[in-house]
Amino acid sequence: MNILVTGANGQLGRQMQRLGAVSPNNYLFTDVDRLDITDAAAVRECIARNRIDTIVNCAAYTNVERAEEEAAADRLNRAAVENLARAAAEADALLVHVSTDYVFDGSSPVPYTEEAPTAPVSAYGRTKLAGEEAVRASGCRHLILRTAWLYSETGNNFLRTMLRLTAERESLNVVFDQVGTPTYAGDLALAIFSILEGGLDRGNEGTYHFTDEGVCSWYDFAVEIARAVGHDRCRIAPCRTSEYPTRARRPAFSVLDKSKLKRTFGIEIPHWRESMFYCLKRLQSMQGQASEKP
Ligand SMILES: NC(=O)c1ccc[n+]([C@@H]2O[C@H](COP(=O)([O-])OP(=O)(O)OC[C@H]3O[C@@H](n4cnc5c(N)ncnc54)[C@H](OP(=O)(O)O)[C@@H]3O)[C@@H](O)[C@H]2O)c1
Repeated sequence: MNILVTGANGQLGRQMQRLGAVSPNNYLFTDVDRLDITDAAAVRECIARNRIDTIVNCAAYTNVERAEEEAAADRLNRAAVENLARAAAEADALLVHVSTDYVFDGSSPVPYTEEAPTAPVSAYGRTKLAGEEAVRASGCRHLILRTAWLYSETGNNFLRTMLRLTAERESLNVVFDQVGTPTYAGDLALAIFSILEGGLDRGNEGTYHFTDEGVCSWYDFAVEIARAVGHDRCRIAPCRTSEYPTRARRPAFSVLDKSKLKRTFGIEIPHWRESMFYCLKRLQSMQGQASEKP
């Protein structure tokens, strides 16, 4: 298989690179400098020239706050996804597209299944939903994987922000009334990798939910991060979303039901706390290696 990965320098893309390095398949990793997915002609040309069978789209506009004001969010999360989907349909390639829990409004009292009604409350959520719709409308073979609260050793994410803030400050307020599931990008990459390397049956294409196991609030996540690295001096207090005004609204409850993915692909998913420890350990060893360099 020839597998094109777009946005390969982002959190998920970098984890795909770690796994692609040990695959017998041929992975082509690109980011905006090599393949700008807003350029429809470049996308078509890249897929044809490299005889691509599968595209994994890790590129996205992920800044939820800035998305409220910037047209770039729509260009990347909808229009560019439409480019990929149309090119995939023309080439009969499979498109693996990643979407978000923020397509839901957060009013459900139970975890969201793939069939639950969508109703995004932010521009980011609306552009991501429009991207999903473009994929389905194109008629291309596809897998849409909705995920949530992604973090990794690299990039801008909550885990890295909390590591910094709990080291710098004596106290911190973190919202306790937004509940979801922190998800290590390495776990999502491994799920995508297992599905692709296992050979995806056409009958199993469609929309799925993937996060790590378990549920918590951002407050709980922050407390666990600080505790794990011994940042005990910083006092973390729970606060309400209303006390911490942001431009973008976020769902209060965005837990995703992963039963369909586990049943269909037989994937075992770690608990978020276990993956958090793993990521922190990797971060520590990466920092150790960096400080050893002359
Ligand atoms: N992060 C989360 O908490 C979260 C939650 C739920 C779902 N998701 C979804 O999960 C997926 C992966 O997210 P992530 O956190 O790994 O994203 P990310 O770290 O923001 O990475 C996105 C990558 O896409 C690149 N990119 C930007 N414009 C591009 C273009 N025109 N053409 C090609 N590449 C371009 C970015 O490059 P630059 O950095 O140079 O712009 C970056 O390397 C996305 O679909 C996202 O919506 C994320």
